[in-house]
This record gives sequence, C-alpha cells and structure tokens, in this order.
Amino acid sequence: MNTEAKQMEGKVNSILDNYQCDKGWLVSILQDVQAEYNYLPEEALMWISRVLDVPLSQVYGVATFFKAFSLKPRGRHLINVCLGTACHVRGAVRILEKVERELGISSGETTEDLKYTLETFNCAGACAVGPMVIIDGEYYGQMTADKVNSLLESYD
Ligand code: FES
Repeated sequence: MNTEAKQMEGKVNSILDNYQCDKGWLVSILQDVQAEYNYLPEEALMWISRVLDVPLSQVYGVATFFKAFSLKPRGRHLINVCLGTACHVRGAVRILEKVERELGISSGETTEDLKYTLETFNCAGACAVGPMVIIDGEYYGQMTADKVNSLLESYD
C-alpha cells in the first residue's frame, strides 16, 4: 500500500472512530470524509464498506442519493452561479459564461489544478440583490460579468 493510501486509511479510520464504527452514522461519516477531501474517493468508500461491513453498493447508494456528495474530485473553492428567474433576467447567464471562459471549464466541472469547481443553482432566496454568486458559502450579490475577474483573484 502506498503512502497516500495509508494516509487516507488513517484519516478515514479516525473519522470512523468518531462514530464508534456504527453503520447507523453512515451519512455523517460520508459527510466528514467529503469535508476532508472535498469529494468521496473510491478507496475511502471501499474501506468504509469493509470496516462497517456494509455492502459497497449500499455505500454508493447513499453517496449518490444526496446531491451534496460528489464522487469526482472537486476544487478547493466551490463557485455557484444562480440561474434562478430573478438572477436570469438580470444577466446571470453572462456571468456564468464569463466564469466559464476565465476558468476554461463548464458548469459541473473542476479545473485541472483542483482550485475551482463550478456549479449552478436555482435561487438562494436573495433575489432582491441578484444576480447572485456564492463562493464557498459566501454570498456575492449584484454581480456583473465585469466583477468576475477581481472576485476570482481574491481566492487563492
Ligand atoms: S433567483 Fe437568484 S437568488 Fe433568487
């Protein structure tokens, strides 16, 4: 087993220990693994399945049921562009296109350097100050395509 795999096993084991290896906490365990890696690595899911004695298909079932979980590597920063109606009529698509151009990825993708993942959503309930972009949970209202560059530059 290589060092990386060993490290992962160690981290996943300590998460499992926090829940006394109780399969009833599977969702919370997966949440903690995702918080650690920004996604759910296949090796981690296999290890969890073995330790908890839960079929791998069941672990994947939970991992794919919740939209918050990702089976693909995600960037350190999650950019969410609102495409809800109120933001849409105020130019949200232009903002999304600008972010896509700047990062060289489409919505749903992650940059190769694993810095950014780009996603869209429909309304954060802050329509009055749209168009809305959310990065790592931080709200940026009244967004324009011109502001995209400086906003991205503020993240490293
Ligand atoms: S439509 Fe974008 S915040 Fe409501």
